[in-house]
Amino acid sequence: MRTATGRLATLRRDARMLLDDLRGRHPSPLIARPPSPVYPPSSAADSASRARTFEIAAVTRETADAVTLTLRDPSGLAIPFVPGQFFTLLVPLDGEPTPLRRAYSASSSHLDPTQVTITIKRVDSGRVSSHLVEHAAPGQRLSVLGPSGDFTLAPDPTAARHIVAIAGGSGITPIMAITRAVLAGEPASRVTLLYGNRDAPSIIFAAELARLAADPAHAGRLDVRHVLEDRGAFTAAATGRLDATTVAAQLDAAGIGAGTAAGVIYFICGPEPMMAEARAALVTRGVAAEHIREERFTAPARRQTSHAPSAQPLTIRRAGVALDVIVPAGSTVLDAGLAAGVPLKLSCAMGGCGACAVKLTAGEVAMDEPNCLGPSDRAAGTILACVARPLSPCTVEAP
Ligand SMILES: Cc1cc2nc3c(=O)[nH]c(=O)nc-3n(C[C@H](O)[C@H](O)[C@H](O)COP(=O)(O)OP(=O)(O)OC[C@H]3O[C@@H](n4cnc5c(N)ncnc54)[C@H](O)[C@@H]3O)c2cc1C
Ligand code: FES
Repeated sequence: MRTATGRLATLRRDARMLLDDLRGRHPSPLIARPPSPVYPPSSAADSASRARTFEIAAVTRETADAVTLTLRDPSGLAIPFVPGQFFTLLVPLDGEPTPLRRAYSASSSHLDPTQVTITIKRVDSGRVSSHLVEHAAPGQRLSVLGPSGDFTLAPDPTAARHIVAIAGGSGITPIMAITRAVLAGEPASRVTLLYGNRDAPSIIFAAELARLAADPAHAGRLDVRHVLEDRGAFTAAATGRLDATTVAAQLDAAGIGAGTAAGVIYFICGPEPMMAEARAALVTRGVAAEHIREERFTAPARRQTSHAPSAQPLTIRRAGVALDVIVPAGSTVLDAGLAAGVPLKLSCAMGGCGACAVKLTAGEVAMDEPNCLGPSDRAAGTILACVARPLSPCTVEAP
């Protein structure tokens, strides 16, 4: 417990920092504080050490604007993940005060834990995707968090299920890992893939999907249905966008009936408009919500975070103990808590997994979008420490 003298010293220091901030003297992104007498100093290090270093073993160009990076742990350690999960890359870029965090889904087979592949498609004006697509090279090293995420299919050799995947553009990446897992590890299960792209040259994994579908070892268990806005000479593809009408027509053509059939699971991943259309098609066909899984790479209307204009005081309550810290302008609850030695949990560090959830009991925060909180989480006061930036003095309860 803090003494009255200790509390006064903390208040004085915090007031001094707030004044400095108002005068334009900004502290470094993370405030280095002496370790808390309450929380063991090793805790922050333990959490931070969850970032691993991977080396780029190979760069494969998939399309004009997409590359696959094969990543290995230079110390030879395994890289386990569940098909459908993603890794968070910490990418230092010129002009950015801290590394940018971006999620990329594993696209390789989980059955080979000696490496993982991630596939990155450049988005217009995208800082990290453009940088990696243009500059990633074998031998470079990357700091990586994860794996994270629950858009997953845990392989079950005894399962007999039908995975119906609806993917657009780079949304194929987690679907690819799931497809590989089903074909390799579930002999009685099958996959139907509706895959939308602009044109044939922009199809990521076109050749690999054709190879998997033709492999006699998979005995017709993969049905790939391409939908292209401009199909050109690729006459096997349907023409159009993956909108609700096309999704319904393709499901009919694949012999997938309306309603919720036992053992049928729908996975949707792609640009937001495509996801909304696909979901609408499934709902119209009477598919129950619990049979539909979705992964969002970006929010419906991706909002810029309204960064806190100034440093804010934050009280973190955990295990009956309160600790006061200052969150520097633009910094997160997680960064400030870890810097003060509070053993906050984290995994993806970019709003994608929920591992860092805490309860906001006072104050207001801005949160980066997209993130994995649902309406009921928000209503209950849950915030994600890794993307929450206090806009006013705040108090949070950490598990
Ligand atoms: C769970 C998860 C898994 C992901 N997996 C993959 C993956 O396997 N492969 C992959 O290529 N990407 C994936 N992403 C998207 C990736 O994390 C980045 O958001 C994307 O690479 C853009 O980052 P950037 O720094 O280049 O763009 P930014 O500089 O952050 O943004 C530049 C502009 O592009 C817009 N934008 C940002 N992201 C997207 C997007 N995904 N689509 C369209 N517009 C966007 C922004 O609104 C902004 O206008 C995933 C995202 C999540 C949340
Ligand atoms: S650590 Fe994954 S959401 Fe915050």
